[in-house]
Amino acid sequence: MAIHNLEVNGAYLLDLPVVSDPRGDLTFIENQQHIPFDIARVYYLYNVPVDAQRGGHAHRDLQQVIFALSGSFRVLLDDGQHKTEVTLRNPGIGLYINRMVWREMDFFSQGAVCMVIASNPYDESDYYRNYEEFIEASHASKK
Ligand code: TYD
Repeated sequence: MAIHNLEVNGAYLLDLPVVSDPRGDLTFIENQQHIPFDIARVYYLYNVPVDAQRGGHAHRDLQQVIFALSGSFRVLLDDGQHKTEVTLRNPGIGLYINRMVWREMDFFSQGAVCMVIASNPYDESDYYRNYEEFIEASHASKK
């Protein structure tokens, strides 16, 4: 499983297996094999208006891998010290995001589908939804 580092800590792109033949491409994900955590939850975003912004939060504990199953969208990433952006458009490439990485998503193409594989069930108390609070916690944890 090849990994491509990004300009922030706690986020990287990972290549999933792709089985291609004249009938099309097939990608699979096996627990413990292709994802660096135990899969506890899968959710997906669809019918996203092209001018919508999603995300806008970080997590205290949650790890995720994000895929563009169809179409494309941009993900802005911020580890509290460095920022970068990546556009996802290949269903065979996942974006791993560790705990304590702020993310925002925008520029969804028409019909884009974003699938997220997560390490924990949904828990609102795991979210930082306030950027200043996230930055403070991020800097405190690095002291
Ligand atoms: P949110 O995480 O803010 O979405 P995004 O990061 O894509 O902008 O969640 C939006 C709403 O959906 C919020 O009210 C919580 C709810 N939700 C669940 O009930 N379960 C889930 O697994 C997720 C991801 C969200």
